[in-house]
Amino acid sequence: MTGVGLRGTSGKAGLLKNVQLFQGLSERQLQQIARLADEMDVPAGKVLARAGETGHEMFVIVEGQASVTTSQRRTLQLGAGDFFGEMSLLDGGPRSATVEAATPMRLLVIGQREFFSLLAEAPLISKGIMRTLSQRLRKADAAFSTCT
Ligand code: CMP
Repeated sequence: MTGVGLRGTSGKAGLLKNVQLFQGLSERQLQQIARLADEMDVPAGKVLARAGETGHEMFVIVEGQASVTTSQRRTLQLGAGDFFGEMSLLDGGPRSATVEAATPMRLLVIGQREFFSLLAEAPLISKGIMRTLSQRLRKADAAFSTCT
């Protein structure tokens, strides 16, 4: 992986402002996340999470597209402002899907310890993650019911 630490805290905080998950946070909270997150550029084809492996970080997409291949062999696209990798951190289980960069990508990477301190510090982030998990579960259920 290349490009780790491209930007200072205030540059990263600027990127975070455009991410739905972080909407409504104070400037101080954005600065805090920016301090905790590493910026990373990856080429197309880079596998960022592999189904079955242990996960150590969550990713927020700043630019580019990722393909998620689920255990049901469904492929979904995630883009700027989306996040992934939160499930393994939340329940300590293996990665539920394989996530690969479909284009060159710029990401913010948040390690497990930093992830939990963010959840404790900013209930809005916990709420945003739960909302997205609910939406993904609904979509997965809807897709499953059309196959059966
Ligand atoms: P995790 O299980 O840690 O690693 C793979 C990630 O893919 C997972 O976290 C989610 O962020 C993402 N993911 C898994 N299933 C879906 C889905 N059905 N829709 C969107 N994202 C998913």
